[in-house]
Amino acid sequence: MDYTQAKHRIEQLRAVLRESNHKYYVENAPVMSDYEYDLLMHELEALEAQYPEYGSEDSPTRRVGSDLEEKREEGSGFAKYPHRYPMLSLSNTYSIGEVEEFAERAAKALDTPFTYSCELKFDGTAICLTYRDGALVRALTRGDGVTGDDVTENARRIGNIPHRLTGSGWPQEFEIRGEVLMPFESFESLNHEREVSEEPLFANPRNAASGSLKLQDSEEVARRGLMCTLYHIPSPLEGYPTHDALLEAAKSWGLPVSQERRICRSIQEIEDYISQWDSARKELPYATDGVVIKINEIPIQRQLGYTAKSPRWAVAYKYKAEQALTPILSIDYQVGRTGAVTPVANLEPVFISGTMVKRATLVNEDQIRSLDIHHGDWVYVEKGGEIIPKITGVELSKRPEGALKPHFPTQCPDCGSALVKPEGEARWFCPNGTGCPTQLKGRILHFVSRKAMNILAGEATIEQLYKLDLVHTPADLYHLQMPQLLQLEGWKERSARRFLQSLSQSKSVPFERVLFAVGIRYVGESTARDLARHFGSLEALQAATREELLSVEEVGEVIADSVLAFFQKEENLLEMNRLKEAGLQFSLKESPGQVSAALEGKTFVVSGVFSVSRDQIKALIEAHGGKNSSSVSGKTSYLLAGSKPGPDKVKKAAELGVEVLDEASFREMIGETLPAEDLFGGMLPEPTLF
Ligand code: IVH
Repeated sequence: MDYTQAKHRIEQLRAVLRESNHKYYVENAPVMSDYEYDLLMHELEALEAQYPEYGSEDSPTRRVGSDLEEKREEGSGFAKYPHRYPMLSLSNTYSIGEVEEFAERAAKALDTPFTYSCELKFDGTAICLTYRDGALVRALTRGDGVTGDDVTENARRIGNIPHRLTGSGWPQEFEIRGEVLMPFESFESLNHEREVSEEPLFANPRNAASGSLKLQDSEEVARRGLMCTLYHIPSPLEGYPTHDALLEAAKSWGLPVSQERRICRSIQEIEDYISQWDSARKELPYATDGVVIKINEIPIQRQLGYTAKSPRWAVAYKYKAEQALTPILSIDYQVGRTGAVTPVANLEPVFISGTMVKRATLVNEDQIRSLDIHHGDWVYVEKGGEIIPKITGVELSKRPEGALKPHFPTQCPDCGSALVKPEGEARWFCPNGTGCPTQLKGRILHFVSRKAMNILAGEATIEQLYKLDLVHTPADLYHLQMPQLLQLEGWKERSARRFLQSLSQSKSVPFERVLFAVGIRYVGESTARDLARHFGSLEALQAATREELLSVEEVGEVIADSVLAFFQKEENLLEMNRLKEAGLQFSLKESPGQVSAALEGKTFVVSGVFSVSRDQIKALIEAHGGKNSSSVSGKTSYLLAGSKPGPDKVKKAAELGVEVLDEASFREMIGETLPAEDLFGGMLPEPTLF
């Protein structure tokens, strides 16, 4: 690898890891498995060590991933507080050899005897609890390691977190850290409920735990069946010589400390612990993904100290994900919205970690080659953090006689264009961005998705709209009218009207999300936000030079070049203009701006499920001069209840005589029965439709 290639790869890895951090910590929707993430992180660490001239203070290798909730709309989000002691991560490894090295290094550096505390690595979301005078006074998430979100109210609704300590001898004030977990049972019933109500499912219990801890509705948190296990006291407490003694004391104060710990005295004992729990952990009611090995003596921990990211006195050994062996039935080549062609294997269905797997990604042509995949091969399949499982190896002893290698297509399986492989890319692409149906539909689907424009349309609707020649690009959506929508199979006036309403509402989606929605390569949600905040408008972004783009924190060459390439294409400029004409937000508003004073002096508590997200409802309240509050009290003017509101809130409102409003009456209050012109894109529909 020469210098330019190394620089390019470093940029690429940083961009991918940053985006992956955002997806993992903020959206709770991981895009890769922990294993893949760790591999990329280790690759970046190695490259940065080899090419220190490309080092950067804010590289993901030097920062703890951040779960801080972005304050999208005023009034939503959590208060943020600094951590008294930074909340770091752990250095991790998948190799017993590296655990041995850790133990040997420690033994060499230390001249006093010491022990290890081996414990499970819980796979949930980290929490830091502060107790003062025996009472829980604050609970913070890890945040970016320096500042965390204040989730105290939510933590109080987690069954095994005590509000008050019991026993005696607790310090006047101290912090204790641990993990909030969602047991498998709660996870399954939550996902079942979400399936029934057509809400997106959580990929795994970790995401569900983290998403639940960040809910704005603490009664819903109480219903989610979370639990907590505690494993670290960062406060320097007198009289406790070891980590183990500290945790035992915490246990005597009624705190739920992790139970499966063992004090080990040799590397052999550590290895025994690791292998024992490799199988035993499968019987636990919650997820664990490894073992943490900590040096037990506090003075030695102090002596070893910390790096910028993790303690030198601990290491995490991570178990490899569970695998299954099953034959490949056939291979499909799927085209994505960027034109990338991904090989996907159809498998003989097989159970992995509790779910049935039927398809798995083969990633790209190189991966097929390096795994040496043949038709009909029996393959090892693994479920990572993401929903799509991965093929990790072939069982050669089961290869059918005369099995042939698959031929990666040279033409787009959808539109027939000759595939291309741009320099530095591992994937083949269909270059027909403006004509390839799968790419067009994929882009529209991305555009309407919840995190983008949040328009009420799924895959089936987009498919139909495309088939009927009504929509080829996102901008076409804004020209749809009632009579056309009624051509869609199964669509009635009501569904069409709801769809048009969501289109109309999407015109107030902020610029940063519009920028994400238009689908510039490598511009994920967090990069879109950085770009929007830096440039303020589409014009400014479009006029930006490479240097100006590169001056944005978190934007490297890969992203800068991709933005430049996007605005060089005629068809993209045309589409941007059409979207602008449709009335989308192409600049940042200084403040959300008050629309009316209809709700002046009124305080609302919002609970339940609405036609749009609760955050959007809250933003509407504020835009009309009202205030939001999280709990019903004497000061509450209205409980705005969607479907399935929190029963405690409804009860409290009844007790206090607080009026309960439904969404329709609320919308009436703010004069939001949209005028017909708005609903039907300027054209009144046939009178018979009413
Ligand atoms: S100790 C200073 N012990 O793993 C380090 N962490 O990948 C204190 N984790 O951020 C952490 N189980 O959220 C510790 N038994 C355990 C753990 C554990 C899970 C989490 C924790 C940490 C992350 C690092």
